[in-house]
Amino acid sequence: MKITDDIHYIGVNDHEIDLFEGQYVVENGMAYNSYVITDNRTAVMDTVDARFREEWLQNLKQALGDRTPDYLIVQHMEPDHSANIDAFAKTYPDAVIVASAAAFTMMKQFFGTDYADRRMIVKEGDTLSLGTHTLQFVGAPMVHWPEVIVTYDSHDKVLFSADGFGKFGALDADEDWACEARRYYFGIVGKYGMQVQNLLKKAAALDIKMICPLHGPILQENLEYYVNLYQTWSSYGVESEGIMIAYTSVYGHTKAAVELLAEKLTAKGCPKVVVADLAREDMAECVEDAFRYGRLVLATTTYNTDIFPFMREFISELTERGYQNRTIALIENGSWAPTAAKVMRARLESCKNITFAEPVVQIRSALNDESRAQLEALADELLR
Ligand code: FEO
Repeated sequence: MKITDDIHYIGVNDHEIDLFEGQYVVENGMAYNSYVITDNRTAVMDTVDARFREEWLQNLKQALGDRTPDYLIVQHMEPDHSANIDAFAKTYPDAVIVASAAAFTMMKQFFGTDYADRRMIVKEGDTLSLGTHTLQFVGAPMVHWPEVIVTYDSHDKVLFSADGFGKFGALDADEDWACEARRYYFGIVGKYGMQVQNLLKKAAALDIKMICPLHGPILQENLEYYVNLYQTWSSYGVESEGIMIAYTSVYGHTKAAVELLAEKLTAKGCPKVVVADLAREDMAECVEDAFRYGRLVLATTTYNTDIFPFMREFISELTERGYQNRTIALIENGSWAPTAAKVMRARLESCKNITFAEPVVQIRSALNDESRAQLEALADELLR
């Protein structure tokens, strides 16, 4: 498939995968994108997952016709993109492998060789001329691994953005970009907001007409929309008006409290209330919603003098991704020694710029007049 006169798409769709990166449910599969630039010299941009070796090599061959590739540019060493470097190197023994120094160290670890006799080490600001296309390399450490470079083609004004601007989902899936891009971003790159901000600053200096990521569709229109979302996400800003309530419930009493709070919030005019049962819903979906909205309610039971395991995991998912700049409300339930609110607060201690909403709602086993009144007061406080 041709993207521009000289850039061809040679990636693959994966509908067989059970869990992406060993943990993410991808109902609509996954795409591993790869590209070829055909100029006086030809350059291949990254490879694909190991299971698609033959299909990818076939796509490459078809795009090249009777030519052979001069360069393989390795932007990212995670195996969903790098697994076929060695197969490529063996198929095309004259091609030069182009990557950052850190990427070659990883190649040695993965493949037992760093291609010392046929490599080109590049760093921030280096360029590679293919003829009419000049590729400029831009360092993007920790978006999403330390060795990452992204590549700007000034001829076609294309940014090859590695994992940046990627999403879950195969390319033949018809689905909203933002939903699966947000789940992907916060799941995979969310911890590295500052590094993404650095990359966005560098990208702002380039004249970009098209973004070619390693996952998800090629972005060609309304680039401002995607860049603005990345600005919001990477600066831990609030994307949408509304409140997320994340809960666990053992026998339904905490759930009843959450449902009552959601009802009150909606009745009082909250534009969007998202309620998530952490034991039953996709954790990555819950994480993206926590980052999407500015206010978060956490409701859980006291459990083994700690909190219910799914809430413990959820809070860890947030803190390890640098959750910040939010208002958080706490609801605890306990039949004899409720301590969940205290435990949740302590677990959130590392989060920057958090306002805890009052009151903390305490349920002793089941809702009563007192806890209902606390929910009413909390609803008012959250909408103040
Ligand atoms: Fe798509 Fe970080 O690999």
